[in-house]
Amino acid sequence: MKATPTSMIIGSGSYVPEKILTNQDLEKIVDTSDEWIQTRTGMKLRHIIADDENTSDMAAKAASKAIADAGISVNEIDLIVIATISGDVGFPSTACYVQELIGAHDAAVFDISAACSGFIYGLEIATAQIATGKYQKVLVIGVEALSRMTDYKDRNTCVLFGDGAGAVVLAPSDGKKGILQTYIRSDGRLNQLLHVPGFGTKHPPTHENVDQRLHYIRMEGREVFKHAVKAMGDAAVKILKLTGLKSEDVSLLISHQANLRIIDATAKRAGIDAERVYINIDKYGNTSAASIPLALDEALKEGVLKENDIVVLVAFGAGFTWGSAAIRI
Ligand code: UT7
Repeated sequence: MKATPTSMIIGSGSYVPEKILTNQDLEKIVDTSDEWIQTRTGMKLRHIIADDENTSDMAAKAASKAIADAGISVNEIDLIVIATISGDVGFPSTACYVQELIGAHDAAVFDISAACSGFIYGLEIATAQIATGKYQKVLVIGVEALSRMTDYKDRNTCVLFGDGAGAVVLAPSDGKKGILQTYIRSDGRLNQLLHVPGFGTKHPPTHENVDQRLHYIRMEGREVFKHAVKAMGDAAVKILKLTGLKSEDVSLLISHQANLRIIDATAKRAGIDAERVYINIDKYGNTSAASIPLALDEALKEGVLKENDIVVLVAFGAGFTWGSAAIRI
């Protein structure tokens, strides 16, 4: 398969809330330790959304930065794709709220639900839309406020998640730079291993269901871990195959930041050494759909990623969903 890009990133931005939750803070809430969390996950801190802040506020802040970085007017945005599983309300989409907040009134907007793989799903969908010729400036945002659906009585999950947002503006490629390939897959048979059972049609928010804490994240950590290692390794290898790139062509691997051990295993499978692997899990924890665009924005702003570099993105999440992308900066 050829690797001629149809869309490229012309701007990026990110945002994390001010409040920080440390491993030491968590030690006071549940039976855990800084040592356990760091050894098993690589996490030290995570940022937590303020009481008066919403998912759309975080997304809008990241989006506005990406628009400014692209040097375009908000009026030029003709499509907004938001990857999130922790939106503001049941409906309408969080994208509608973000559209209002940033004032992108000439855009079509919608959310996609693919959990931690959402940003890569968003890149694939946005690129396909740009390829139709109908859209010129597309915002793709990964945003999550998982702290709002985290059970701070469950030590198996509450140490893992943080909040934040990352955004990119995509435009038609110049033919050299841009998204070389994307790859997305799912396996709905494994939906029970990581989910929020409550609040949908299965378990509406009755007093009884809320008392049973069904509105919180449930995860079979060890099982998810095994599937994540396999699927992310496969996705990393697959994107190299689809693009014809070799491991040594990759300047940087940005893996979904769910667990340092999973990131290491993915890099190893793809033949990418540790110096070319971006890590910020220590600062943010697992921010689900925000994790990759947040890291991508940081890597661009820090100059870790430079013009002409190849970055490979790999993600895995609830569903299960997984995927990868290769981008020439
Ligand atoms: O983002 C979407 C994808 N998500 C992921 O990829 C997450 C995948 N899973 C993981 O990252 C890991 O499975 C966890 C970090 C969630 C857990 O690490 P683990 O090495 O798989 O631990 P475990 O679940 O096998 O538990 C080992 C022990 C258990 O105790 P026993 O049964 O051996 O006595 C747990 O009860 O660690 C215990 N434990 C804890 N101890 C201290 C579980 N959570 C904690 C905790 N603090 N927070």
